Amino acid sequence: MAKKVFFSVSMSLDGFIAPESLEDLMGRQWIALQQWMFPLRFIRENLKLGEGGEEGRDNDIVRETFERTGASVMGKRMFDAGEQMWPEEAPFHTPVFVVTHEKRDPWERPGGTTFHFVNDGIETALDQAREAAGDRDVRIAGGGATILEYVNAGLIDEFSIALSPVLFGSGIRLFEGVDAGRVALEPVRAEPTQRVTHLTYEVRER
Ligand SMILES: NC(=O)c1ccc[n+]([C@@H]2O[C@H](COP(=O)([O-])OP(=O)(O)OC[C@H]3O[C@@H](n4cnc5c(N)ncnc54)[C@H](OP(=O)(O)O)[C@@H]3O)[C@@H](O)[C@H]2O)c1
Repeated sequence: MAKKVFFSVSMSLDGFIAPESLEDLMGRQWIALQQWMFPLRFIRENLKLGEGGEEGRDNDIVRETFERTGASVMGKRMFDAGEQMWPEEAPFHTPVFVVTHEKRDPWERPGGTTFHFVNDGIETALDQAREAAGDRDVRIAGGGATILEYVNAGLIDEFSIALSPVLFGSGIRLFEGVDAGRVALEPVRAEPTQRVTHLTYEVRER
């Protein structure tokens, strides 16, 4: 069974992880938020953006995040955005469990990613992901609404944020609606690079 349940996202300095509308996803702010990842060797390989790319600490961190993940869980809005943007060989290479009200057969992609659509809630999706992850961790991939459900249910062990030097002003705020009285955070690591600051916290019940 999986070891930890974690999430890892890029966040703007004012606390947002995405624009409100999926149509704005290829917009200037979104690109600025994710800009730190595009030159990295690992991301270029995984998203089929081309050969080469930068190595170094940012690259190591995204590779380590990928390698520790045995299965992912995501919300339907993240899936909908990704379905349009991911290459045919979707960049997970593991089972992915999509929490949704929509009934749909599993969608198998080349390269080892199969999307399973789970209609009976976040706990069932997590149980299935834990089982599928083997001895690796489960990543709650996003987006904000789904991460928040897991945080408020006390089901997250650890999370990482790549704090990006960009301001959104509005959009999907990572911790909007968090049950703050219930969640205590233990700092694990803070690591600045040229592009972002990587922050990692353990989550404890208060
Ligand atoms: N910055 C980053 O690193 C990062 C990382 C990941 C994602 N994102 C972004 O986050 C955005 C999406 O986030 P979001 O907060 O809008 O949405 P989301 O969490 O991806 O999806 C929410 C949707 O998932 C389904 N869902 C969630 N919980 C459910 C439950 N318990 N039972 C049944 N269905 C459930 C519902 O859709 P249905 O009712 O339609 O089924 C709900 O509307 C995207 O733009 C994505 O690109 C950013």
